[in-house]
Amino acid sequence: MLKSIRSEQATLGMYVHSFSGGWLSHPLWRSRLLISSEQELTRIRSSNCEIIIDTAKGRDAPPPQSIRAPVSPAPMRASGRFGRADKVRATELAQRSKTIVDAMFADCRLGKGVPTTEILAVVDDIASSLNNMAAFISVTRLKAQDDQTYTHSVAVCALMINLARELGYTTDAARDLGMAGLLHDIGKSTIPPDILLKAGPLNEAETIEMRRHPVQGHSILSATTGVPAVALDVCQHHHERLDGSGYPFGLKGEAISIATRMASICDAYDAMTSIRPHAAGKSPLEAVTEMESADGQFDRALLFRFMGSIGVYPAGKLVRILGDRLAVTLPHKGQGMDPVFRTFYSTVETRFLQHCDVILTDCLAEGTTVIAEDPGSWFSESWPTMAARIMAGERPVRPT
Ligand SMILES: [Fe+2]
Repeated sequence: MLKSIRSEQATLGMYVHSFSGGWLSHPLWRSRLLISSEQELTRIRSSNCEIIIDTAKGRDAPPPQSIRAPVSPAPMRASGRFGRADKVRATELAQRSKTIVDAMFADCRLGKGVPTTEILAVVDDIASSLNNMAAFISVTRLKAQDDQTYTHSVAVCALMINLARELGYTTDAARDLGMAGLLHDIGKSTIPPDILLKAGPLNEAETIEMRRHPVQGHSILSATTGVPAVALDVCQHHHERLDGSGYPFGLKGEAISIATRMASICDAYDAMTSIRPHAAGKSPLEAVTEMESADGQFDRALLFRFMGSIGVYPAGKLVRILGDRLAVTLPHKGQGMDPVFRTFYSTVETRFLQHCDVILTDCLAEGTTVIAEDPGSWFSESWPTMAARIMAGERPVRPT
């Protein structure tokens, strides 16, 4: 049986099934281990996180000394919505950023290289608009035909910074990733305008031409000083896919860096949700749902954290919130509305609970990670059936 405990409660002989936040947050550790040495025990205890142990494969934890009070529904989060003033500020910043990126593309067409100082200032401007990030990401969805590449670069920069913060990266690392987002399509400055700005689908020859842009971009950035290594990596590889279906090299799995996986998610998401003169674009929920079903293309753990960074989750997913509560995501109620999770199971008490609907508040978003859980690790019942019952308000039948 799986059980959630604090890392300080770990003892020798316990079998660790997973860590809070997933293995992504603990890259030095191998997945799933039997704690068999004092050294491993010390590292785990000092991690100050929650861990899931499997009591069928190792020692059990003593019963909890106290039972937590039931969780009350939290108030509606304010920052998921934004007002007119936020939108005006975001639009001004997006316009200013887009103009500088436009000039950067023009410079590159003339062979002048990338003006890194100006570009860094744009990244810092976007990063400092953190409190207005939802509004900023929203206004950059609107793209005119002529400047869609520039607005897209600005949008991917914002999405990368947002995701980097969700993942707990340092300010400097988030800044480098933002720069990588801003520069990822710089190779498109070498693509003829009639192909770059074509409204309809590209033919085969045009597609081949367009697909040169990652390598061309890498060449431009290689000749520029002050560009972080991660931006070179992201520029060259952001169209690679985990299953090897991407380009230009058809890289697979581990050959693709975490930064590039992040960029490919942000890039695809903005492309899918962009609202253009003759195309409505998908909603954020439609986009993440489609990306999740594009089996094997995107890093699923990162995609889930990306959903957290934009506050959009498909309905019916099993998640862990508030440390020890398993919950199902409820159907999204519309743009600007916060995700709602229905808690139904305690991983500490290993029992089903009265349902409680929790709204993703500012407090929850900043202080608690929403973790994707594998239903098969917790329940033997078919998860779609179980999730449907919980969403309909019925209590699950039994734990396993
Ligand atoms: Fe691209």
